[in-house]
Amino acid sequence: MSISLQQPALHDLTKLERIGAHSHIRGLGLDDHLNPRPVGSGMVGQTKARRAAGLILKMVQEGRIAGRAILMAGPAGSGKTAIAMGMAQELGPDVPFTSIAASEVYSLSMSKTEALTQAFRRSIGVQIKEETEIIEGEVVEIQIDRSLTGATKTGKLTLKTTDMETVYDLGNKMIDSLTKEKVLAGDVIAIDKASGRISKLGRSFARSRDYDAMGADTKFVQCPEGEIQKRREVTHTISLHEIDVINSRTQGFLALFAGDTGEISPELRDQIDTKINEWREESKATLTPGILFIDEVHMLDIECFSFINRKLEEELAPIVVMASNRGMAKVRGTGYKAPHGLPVDLLDRVMIVRTGPYSADEIEGIIKIRCQEEDTSISNEAVAVLTKMAQETTLRYALQLISCADVLARRRKAKEVDRQDLQRAYVYFNDEKRSAQWLREQGGGLLVWDMDVKVDGEETGDATMS
Ligand SMILES: Nc1ncnc2c1ncn2[C@@H]1O[C@H](COP(=O)(O)OP(=O)(O)OP(=O)(O)O)[C@@H](O)[C@H]1O
Ligand SMILES: [Mg+2]
Repeated sequence: MSISLQQPALHDLTKLERIGAHSHIRGLGLDDHLNPRPVGSGMVGQTKARRAAGLILKMVQEGRIAGRAILMAGPAGSGKTAIAMGMAQELGPDVPFTSIAASEVYSLSMSKTEALTQAFRRSIGVQIKEETEIIEGEVVEIQIDRSLTGATKTGKLTLKTTDMETVYDLGNKMIDSLTKEKVLAGDVIAIDKASGRISKLGRSFARSRDYDAMGADTKFVQCPEGEIQKRREVTHTISLHEIDVINSRTQGFLALFAGDTGEISPELRDQIDTKINEWREESKATLTPGILFIDEVHMLDIECFSFINRKLEEELAPIVVMASNRGMAKVRGTGYKAPHGLPVDLLDRVMIVRTGPYSADEIEGIIKIRCQEEDTSISNEAVAVLTKMAQETTLRYALQLISCADVLARRRKAKEVDRQDLQRAYVYFNDEKRSAQWLREQGGGLLVWDMDVKVDGEETGDATMS
């Protein structure tokens, strides 16, 4: 069987960046010795957990471990998801990082084990070495002839290296891409022979004095040496899951865009694995286990946990990082309780990293970083008020008030958010405690669960960590 690796240029899509809950996190904020800076890369405090995360990354990058599981356990809002996002930022483009919420596994269109298998295979990177032919040289001349009607174009491109000069005939498509890339005589270019893609490498030093209408960012390069046609080795990184999807006959690679991949047959996966093992033996491919992050992992049930147990013992398994904010909680699908809602046999396999509550100074640090991220000017007094609020309610509630207070401050045309804006935002939006208090005051009869209805007893009696 031949396996296709043609991948659509996914990375060319421009993303619309909004300010999300974790957009201020740029990494783990560790120095070269993996020591956490008190504040760094948008991260504040939680030093032990950050250091542990850094150690895990180091081991992943060195390719030393596979098939380990880590559990981040700590109260809500203590930075578990934030640290995972920091890990993702530090990993670099060649090591895959996949993040799912445990609840995503419960889908009607595929079984739980299929969803988990896809997540596992997304987290394993395949580096494939390929030889491609390229044409590389300095443009001596481009000559384009248009037919009288302008409908067809023909042309000639003269390229040279220090050793030789060749003239190439140009077709319509090539002429269009040369025009689009604004290639001029004196540019050093590379053309990929298979795809016809043109990349401008810079301007030749020899032509640097020719004309002066160049931007400040013009890059000068030497005229290439040797042959114009060269073979070059390039390495692509793709995940196992992407190879699965591209090769699944029913979907094709368009499914990668639609995100609707459906179930993939085990036979196909076997074939792909066999092929990739062959490539590994011929050293055409290497495999890099990445990281699979499963947030809110207590939402998985016993079947999923036992599946993960088995998956972790396979030869090619990613590092699984899980997060849970539960204390003693029922393991879904069973009648017994276990720490963090994870069955004991899985717990036995995981290394547990703890995240703890923040000190007032750390909360203040996080609030200040968030204000910067959201482009909000805030008075020192307001920061102090917000810090106090975070201690009495939750960090998340306080962080959410920033943007509300910012809108209020702008309405009254103030330069910065002040105590009064926060006070008003605090009145408009209830936190969890006040909401519970209000329900109690209503004396029942308001909502469905005030009546004596038991919806689903599974989660009752679970303790969250605090
Ligand atoms: N150490 C930190 N440095 C900077 N920002 C942080 C830090 N810890 C948490 N935050 C921010 O605080 C908010 C809440 O943290 P986060 O979502 O990571 O909590 P969590 O531990 O995942 O909670 P839950 O158990 O409810 O999922 C997020 O916006 C996060 O980016
Ligand atoms: Mg979280």
